[in-house]
Amino acid sequence: MDAEASSGLRAFTPPKIETARGPLSAFSLLRVMVRNPVAAVPPAAYEEPQVSLHAAGKAIFFPTDPAIIESILVRRHADFVKSRIDSRLLNPVLGNGILTAEGDAWRWQRRLAAPAFRAATLFDYLPVMRSPFEELVERWRLNPGPHRIDDAMTAATIAVICRAFFSEFDQLEADRISGVIERYLGPSSWPIAYESLGLPEWMPHPGKLKMARAAAEGRQLVRRFVARRRRKRQDPPDLAQILMDAHDPQSGRALSDEDLVSMFLTLIAAGHETSANALTWTLYCLAAQPDRQEALADHVRRVTGCRAVGAPDLDALSDLTYFIEETMRLLPPVPMMSRRALRSCQIGSEAIDPTALVFIPIYAIHRHKALWSSPDTFDPWRFRNQSQAPRPRCAYMPFGAGPRICLGASFAMLEMVAGLAAMLTAIRFRLHDDLPPEPLHRITLRPRKAVVLQIEPRP
Ligand code: HEM
Repeated sequence: MDAEASSGLRAFTPPKIETARGPLSAFSLLRVMVRNPVAAVPPAAYEEPQVSLHAAGKAIFFPTDPAIIESILVRRHADFVKSRIDSRLLNPVLGNGILTAEGDAWRWQRRLAAPAFRAATLFDYLPVMRSPFEELVERWRLNPGPHRIDDAMTAATIAVICRAFFSEFDQLEADRISGVIERYLGPSSWPIAYESLGLPEWMPHPGKLKMARAAAEGRQLVRRFVARRRRKRQDPPDLAQILMDAHDPQSGRALSDEDLVSMFLTLIAAGHETSANALTWTLYCLAAQPDRQEALADHVRRVTGCRAVGAPDLDALSDLTYFIEETMRLLPPVPMMSRRALRSCQIGSEAIDPTALVFIPIYAIHRHKALWSSPDTFDPWRFRNQSQAPRPRCAYMPFGAGPRICLGASFAMLEMVAGLAAMLTAIRFRLHDDLPPEPLHRITLRPRKAVVLQIEPRP
C-alpha cells in the first residue's frame, strides 16, 4: 500500500459536523444543542488549547489540549466526577450502573466485570465475535443488492454481546433491547441541552415520555432475564452468572437484582451501539474509497488465506486496525464526554468551580489543527507512522482515558477486526447514492438517516 501516495489517489474527506459560528444566545445554543450537541463546540476549540463560553449564567469549558485532558482524566481524576448530564441522561435507563456510578459503588462494579475483559480471556470470544458477521455474510450472499448497513451492524454487534456474556438471551429479546435503546437515544439531545443551560430536570421536552417508556421497557426485559437465570444457573458460567454469584470481598454484599439489571443493560447498551456505529462508518468510508477497499480486502485475504480470523492473525492485520482507528478519529463513536470538578480548581488558564460543566470534546480533539496534519482528511497510514512521531496520550482517545477508560476497548477492537475481516473477504461494498450520511450526536455518533450500501458478493 506504500504505492498509494504516488498513485494519485484522491484525498477522501468523510462527512463532518458543521459547527455553529459566532456568539450564540442561550436560546440559539439550546437550538443548536438539541439538533446536534457537538455542533455547539465553538470553532476556536479546533485551534486553541481551551475555550469556554457562558450561557444562562453557567460556565461551559471545552479543553482540547491533550495535557489538560490528561490532567482531568488521569492525573487529577479524583478531583473530577462525571457531570450531571450523565446521571440525568443515563440513570433512568442504566440505573447506578458501572457507566454512571461514582466512588465505591463504581470501583466494586469495575472490579467485578474486569476479569471478563482481560487480554488472556478475550481470544476465547473470537468465535462468537465472528459468528454473527459470518451469518450476515451468508444472508447477503443469497440476497445481494442495496442493504441497510447501520441496522445490520446493530443486529450483529448486539448478537456478539449476548452470545459472549448473556447466553440464553435470544435474538428476539436482543432485537427488542436494541429497539428500546434506539427509542431512548432519539430525544437524548434534550437532556444534554437542558443540563448544559442549567434548566431543571422536571422541565418537559419532546420525547420525554417516550424515553421514560423505553427505559421502563428495557429494564423490564432484563429483569425477566435475571429472574430466568435465578431459576436456572449457567454452567460453565458466563459473565452474567459470574456477576450473579459475585460478593464484595469487603462487605460480602452481592449485587441485588436491580443492580444486575443496571449492570447487564449497561454492558449491552455500551457494548453494541458504539461498535455498531464504528463499523457502519468504517464500511461507509471504505465504500467511498473503492481502491483502498480492494487493497485492504487483498491484504486480509493474504493474511488469513480466506480462513476465519484467528488469534495468530491479529498482529498481521494491522492495516485493518489503522482503517478502524482512522474512522474512529474522524467519526468517534463517543464524540463528547463531560465532567465536573468536585471543588474549585484551575485547569489550564481557567478557574473552574463545581457548578461549571467541562466537556471533553473528543470529536474536536481528533480534528484539532495543532494535533493533526490535514485533520479532516482520511489517512489511515498516520497510525502506522506513529512510532516515528509519537503523539500525546490524549490526542487520540476514542475509548476515553484514565480509570474510567472504556472497559470494553480491547473487546471492541477485536470484534471489529474479526467482523470486518469476515465481511471484506466475502463482500464488496459500494456506495448506493451520492448523499453522504450526516453524523448525528445522540450520546453516540450515529448517521442521521439510514446508511444504504450496495452489497456485491466476491467470487
Ligand atoms: C468502538 C467501540 C467503543 C467505544 C468507542 C467506546 C467508548 C467508550 C468511552 C469513551 C467510554 C468512557 C466514558 C467516560 O469516561 O465518560 C466508555 C466507557 C465504557 N465502555 Fe465503552 N466503548 C466501546 C465499546 C464498548 C464495549 C464493546 C463494551 C462492553 C462490552 C463497553 C463497555 C464500557 C463500559 C462498561 C464503560 C464504563 C467504564 C467505567 O466507567 O468504568 N464499551 N466507552
